[in-house]
Amino acid sequence: MCGIIGYAGHRPAVPLIVEGLRRLEYRGYDSAGVATVQNKEIDLVRAEGKLAALDEKLSHINVTNSTFGVGHTRWATHGVPVEKNAHPHLDHDKNIAMIHNGIIENYQEIKAELVTKGYEFRSDTDSEVLVNLIAEGRKHNDTMLKAVSWALNQVEGAYAIALVAVDEPGTVYAARVSSPMVMGVGVGENFVASDIPAFLPYTRKVVFIEDGELVKITSSSWEVFRAENLAPVEKEVQTINWDVQAAQKGGHKHFMIKEIFEQPKVISDCLAGRININSSTDIGEVVLPEISAMEPPERLHIIACGTSYHAGLWGKYLIEQWAKIPVDVEIASEFRYRDPLLSKGSLALAISQSGETADTLAGIKLAKQKGLPILGLCNVVGSSVARESDYIMYTQAGPEISVASTKAMCSQLTALLLLALYWGKRKGVLDEETYSRAVQDLRNLPSILDAELPAMRARAKELSREYSEANSFFYLGRGQYFPLALEGALKLKEISYIHAEGYAAGEMKHGPIALIDPKFPTFAMALKDELFPKVKSNLVEVQARGGEIIALTNPGVELDVEHRWILPEVWGPLNAFMALPALQLFAYETADYLGKDVDQPRNLAKSVTVE
Ligand code: AGP
Repeated sequence: MCGIIGYAGHRPAVPLIVEGLRRLEYRGYDSAGVATVQNKEIDLVRAEGKLAALDEKLSHINVTNSTFGVGHTRWATHGVPVEKNAHPHLDHDKNIAMIHNGIIENYQEIKAELVTKGYEFRSDTDSEVLVNLIAEGRKHNDTMLKAVSWALNQVEGAYAIALVAVDEPGTVYAARVSSPMVMGVGVGENFVASDIPAFLPYTRKVVFIEDGELVKITSSSWEVFRAENLAPVEKEVQTINWDVQAAQKGGHKHFMIKEIFEQPKVISDCLAGRININSSTDIGEVVLPEISAMEPPERLHIIACGTSYHAGLWGKYLIEQWAKIPVDVEIASEFRYRDPLLSKGSLALAISQSGETADTLAGIKLAKQKGLPILGLCNVVGSSVARESDYIMYTQAGPEISVASTKAMCSQLTALLLLALYWGKRKGVLDEETYSRAVQDLRNLPSILDAELPAMRARAKELSREYSEANSFFYLGRGQYFPLALEGALKLKEISYIHAEGYAAGEMKHGPIALIDPKFPTFAMALKDELFPKVKSNLVEVQARGGEIIALTNPGVELDVEHRWILPEVWGPLNAFMALPALQLFAYETADYLGKDVDQPRNLAKSVTVE
């Protein structure tokens, strides 16, 4: 998830673009750059690190007074965040400067083809491949518009691009598939950007660009075409009444709720480039180039904290079941001070959204000292965990701004499921039926979840009002839902400050049930699986002591509790992806109703870089 902006107008482009990027910095901030065209030459300035580094660099040079250009603030998915990988990227002959948000899935094949045509590359990015493909297209098409269309018809994946070219001064081209793009219509100036905040101070008139559309803007005109055939598209100009802050949250009240609703796209983005579809009938094969050089481990030690630890606990069930690999899941702050017995042939898997958690980094260090290779599962390209790992798999969830981790966990579950499938297949221990069903249903999951989220939120809102006075909650689950019970409890306590305990449902009779009374409600994970009958009997014990129950369950499940929260049933372990947002939304709606600081809860930091 990066921030992009293109401008064609009457003002000096560079300062306007940099200010626009600042309002998009929440979308990514590991490098930034700006490109303008002056006297038939591209002026490119890029810097590693946050936008301030670009600002600093610009303050020491004579900036062009060009009135058109493009700018980008990066959230790396391919290529570590160093200047050479920063956007904008130029084509081989430096006639085009392009910015890109998204993932070009077939960039390796295109790159190989361009290399045979004499193209040389300066970066490791998929984006540089696309700008060179457009340059190649310009050699065979008499306009840049046709060249862009020709190139986009060859790429697969997600993109929102904007570009300027030396032979078309005053013009910005832009296009999108799957990555966001919006056009701002001003007076004597026009904009394209990932999101409205980039140009909101200059115009409130916007045109929403749809997938497959190609845009051409100048200071005095704007046109929209179908990228595939350049058929003109009529578009409506709408007026936005959001302020900049609200716009950065996409109109949502908090980043947390925005990120919860991003989870369908997060699953798709985490799958991007990792499921090979050979033909329309082919279900698909899991490909993980990040770890293809590694043999499946004989034993796996997962090291993590907090929500990432809960994700690891969930992954244990699947990796043991599908890949027949024994898994130990370790709380990093405990692991680092033990003298763990780590056997040869084992692998350490460090899970961390931020990639900067001190305890997890210490766990990596200890595992390394004991001779284990490290696989990092991380959301921040080039973070400390990524750099310390021998192998790194990125969750590609985009920046997670809210302190409470939501979409990151969704992406971690997705990645862990892919690992279980990949290793199970590599070892030949996973039956084809399970493998194919998992891949097929995983690909369909985002649309099912996307359709259900609004109803989930409404149910969460309704129940949160009824239980916002509770002083304590039990969260109960068995099997794959035990880690989710722990996560649901963590979410509630960390943002609403209501005490909550996640527990294995079967453990209640070993003591905790003594706590149950009418003022100590239980949130139960009672979804339809082979352990449901056991959960049901645990809930009867809770009710016998006057405890009220909210139960996440599925249609047709016989369950007599105060509040049944029905979720659509999907296949097997994928039900976790339906239950997780429900838990997050219940915590969110409770905390919001109680007037808590949802995105920055008291005493918490987004990344715990101290022990
Ligand atoms: C989760 O909502 C918390 N913010 C916290 O538990 C977090 O998951 C934990 O600190 C680990 O962070 P990491 O994934 O960045 O390593």
